[in-house]
Amino acid sequence: MIAQPASNGIPEYADPSSLPAHVGIIMDGNGRWATRNGLPRSMGHERGVDALRETVRAAQKLGLSYLTVYSFSTENWRRPMAEVTALFALLRHFIKKDLKRLKSENVKISVFGTRAGLPEDVCSLLDMAVEETAGNSRFNLGIAFNYGGREEIARAAKQVAEKVATGEMAIEDFTEEAISRHLDTHPFPDPDMIIRTGQEHRLSNFLTWQGAYAELVFMDVLWPEFGEPQLREALEKFGARERRFGGLGKEAG
Ligand code: FPP
Repeated sequence: MIAQPASNGIPEYADPSSLPAHVGIIMDGNGRWATRNGLPRSMGHERGVDALRETVRAAQKLGLSYLTVYSFSTENWRRPMAEVTALFALLRHFIKKDLKRLKSENVKISVFGTRAGLPEDVCSLLDMAVEETAGNSRFNLGIAFNYGGREEIARAAKQVAEKVATGEMAIEDFTEEAISRHLDTHPFPDPDMIIRTGQEHRLSNFLTWQGAYAELVFMDVLWPEFGEPQLREALEKFGARERRFGGLGKEAG
């Protein structure tokens, strides 16, 4: 059972080691939620931002330290330009409206992904969110925006290769650890759990390197319907999993 927070706000877990430090979320199902409710798709994304706000609040309350959300993928450019524009507008609105509160809640914002193709003002707002929360430490919110796992790995490998080419690094040091250190997500720990809502069972290029050992939790709920009860449900599932990292499990004796 995921315990209720104690009166001091710190959750009491029977086994704190069963709580993931870093959770990644693929927030899928906004469009379907809107269509089912007779609304334009953009309204689904708008409700998706509300669900994101509640989830960030719940993640802090339940004692997580890192949350990374997949807000816009490098593949999302294939959508109609009107929808892409609406997603950019929502990001602008989110940063303008929520940055002050997140700052006061001691939340540190990190942004993962490439800036290629993004409007200049969106880049400036993302930079502002990162800069203004850089000194915070209570909770880490990663926003994967214009993000693709393979693109991130290629960029990291290129940076390491450049260091080798200039003699800053030895070829022997071109290791897994070196790539990890050059990923956008550094110094976030690898995600312990990746949740995907919306009934699809795939990772869609999200945290491709980092998610190698993540527990995958797929939920039927559409993203706008996600909130604290659904996060608790996912944490319950995670707590019941046995993580072996390639070793032997309890049943092996
Ligand atoms: C997937 O739903 C969701 C997205 C492509 C975008 C997720 C974005 C948000 C929750 C809001 C924006 C976030 C910030 C930080 C401003 P879908 O459109 O693929 O849904 P469908 O599969 O039902 O069509």
